[in-house]
Amino acid sequence: MEQKKLTVFDIKSRKNSSPRISMLTAYDYPWALLADQSGIDILLVGDSLGMVVLGYQDTVSVTMDEMIHHVKIVSRVAKRALVIGDMPFGSYNVSKEKAVENANRFMKEGRADCVKLEGGKTMAPVIEAIVNAGIPVQGHIGLTPQTASALGGFKVQGKNAEAARALIEDAKAVEKAGCFSLVMEAVPAPVAKIITETVSIPTIGIGAGIDCDGQVLVMYDMVGLFDRFTPKFVKQYAKISEIISSAIAEFKADVENGRFPEEKHSFTMKSDELEKIEKYLKE
Ligand code: KIV
Repeated sequence: MEQKKLTVFDIKSRKNSSPRISMLTAYDYPWALLADQSGIDILLVGDSLGMVVLGYQDTVSVTMDEMIHHVKIVSRVAKRALVIGDMPFGSYNVSKEKAVENANRFMKEGRADCVKLEGGKTMAPVIEAIVNAGIPVQGHIGLTPQTASALGGFKVQGKNAEAARALIEDAKAVEKAGCFSLVMEAVPAPVAKIITETVSIPTIGIGAGIDCDGQVLVMYDMVGLFDRFTPKFVKQYAKISEIISSAIAEFKADVENGRFPEEKHSFTMKSDELEKIEKYLKE
């Protein structure tokens, strides 16, 4: 059956509604296909790509070209899910013009449906410029990994009243700037609840408690495929790395012991053709 592709309007209309919005990261063909076919609403080509796929230490090194390469793949695959291209560090914090230029690349080359960028109040003018250029933007506040060093590390944000108030102001600012939805990362659940009740756009939580309008996780964390660390807010639904490791070990043993390939994995040849070769070898 032909799938109807979700739009930012469909996502916006899911504020305070059931079912809640499901969002996962995806970076390549097989994972995007599995998530799309499973009915995940949003596929985020996150800059977490840098860590979980490209092996960088953090997300700061990720380039626009690397992002575009993977957004192209996911956009080609997604028949239903909304595809978001995550703007990498340095692609939107230089000037509004540069930000619009790079957001355009996500749409034109990557064929994303929209972009996401990190930052609250201070990024509002940039968000407004991209929205005014006709590109829908998803906001991202709380723990913003690209600027983790400015935040003093990967820490829960908004833990005291003053910091929580600043987060509420951030949420209102990105809503006013035109974001169609908002990711909140590593925010105390009561603060995320207040923000969800305060803004009119859907909130998508990651480490932000149960009261958000939707939830997002990094795919490889969720299936147990990222080896370096697992944040407290991740629910691991599978341990794919164990399955893959045991398959690899079995393959290695089969090769070393001459158990692979079996006859069913091999190609045959007509006996008269084989006889001709044998004859040729004797000449
Ligand atoms: O890059 C990413 O995967 C993200 C999610 C953590 C929301 O921004």
